[in-house]
Amino acid sequence: MKILVTGAAGFIGSNLVEHLLEKGNFVYGVDNFITGSRKNIKRLSKNQNFEFFENDISNLDDQKSELLHDQKFDQIYHLACPTGVPNLVTLAEEMLSTCSIGTKNILEIAKESNSMLLFTSSSEVYGDPKEFPQNESYGGNVDQVGVRSPYEEGKRFSESLITMYVRKYGIDAKIVRVFNTYGQNMSKSDMRVIPRFIHQLEQDKPLTVHGDGLQKRTFCHVDDLINGIFLVMDKGGKGEVYNIGSNKEITIKDLAYFIIKISESNIKVKHIERPKHDHQARLPYLSKIFQLGWSPKINLGEGLSKIIDYELPVKV
Ligand SMILES: NC(=O)c1ccc[n+]([C@@H]2O[C@H](COP(=O)([O-])OP(=O)(O)OC[C@H]3O[C@@H](n4cnc5c(N)ncnc54)[C@H](O)[C@@H]3O)[C@@H](O)[C@H]2O)c1
Repeated sequence: MKILVTGAAGFIGSNLVEHLLEKGNFVYGVDNFITGSRKNIKRLSKNQNFEFFENDISNLDDQKSELLHDQKFDQIYHLACPTGVPNLVTLAEEMLSTCSIGTKNILEIAKESNSMLLFTSSSEVYGDPKEFPQNESYGGNVDQVGVRSPYEEGKRFSESLITMYVRKYGIDAKIVRVFNTYGQNMSKSDMRVIPRFIHQLEQDKPLTVHGDGLQKRTFCHVDDLINGIFLVMDKGGKGEVYNIGSNKEITIKDLAYFIIKISESNIKVKHIERPKHDHQARLPYLSKIFQLGWSPKINLGEGLSKIIDYELPVKV
């Protein structure tokens, strides 16, 4: 198949491209490196079935736009979006333009080439939820002018735009709401909690926990997420939304001590000020994705050990 992946230089995008190439597909990647890594593209470019376009999807230059419009893709995985809590203010404009103009540009390519499309939305569309667990029909609790709104409302707008294209133009699009995911190829500058802890371990620095660390999170391994994404692309309903993530909760403080234990380190934990907009917990209701036959295979201990062994060849 001929497949387009937006956000191919990112953490999930680069893992996704690898899986697609292993299955024998021809993959076109697009990225502007705003939060992605050139290292990921360098690795992927060794495969002759991978072609890369450096471009901003919210401002496609004429030549590349024409090239993409001419391709007639079978499938499009639309992942491009600036990520990261520290970027909520600095990249707010880029988040909003990628989720609006960028998503519209990609939808036009899907419409013209009659290709299936899968969009990676986020658990952030539930904001600071009042319902636990969150099922796909829960409308969320989002502050539309809060600090997190460029990402949260951006994703909500993309979902709405995609749904309009399904209803008005009949395109075959699906939405996956991704909950916290971790795994290989996370960038060292990624400030999400697992890469941050591993980077701190690497540098022999204390693991910094926001506040008392009792806020809870769930973590899904990227290989499990990608299996779920493939199931949704193949078997998911047109216009349907699916949560994918882990439903096993862990507090951030326990996560820090767990990482210290499995890396056999004696590094300390340091509590630092917690950002005011940090949410207390999120928990996916997973029955829709389970019904498609999905089940996660990699537990947190196994997944973390793999990254720690890879990132820290000599255990600290
Ligand atoms: N990793 C997670 O835990 C998680 C959780 C929820 C949702 N998601 C979603 O999954 C997708 C992938 O996330 P990730 O963790 O790999 O993040 P990432 O930042 O590593 O990857 C996103 C990629 O999109 C690219 N990009 C951003 N704006 C672009 C634009 N206008 N044009 C072209 N490329 C652009 C970035 O450079 C980056 O390479 C994103 O849509 C994200 O919102 C991820």
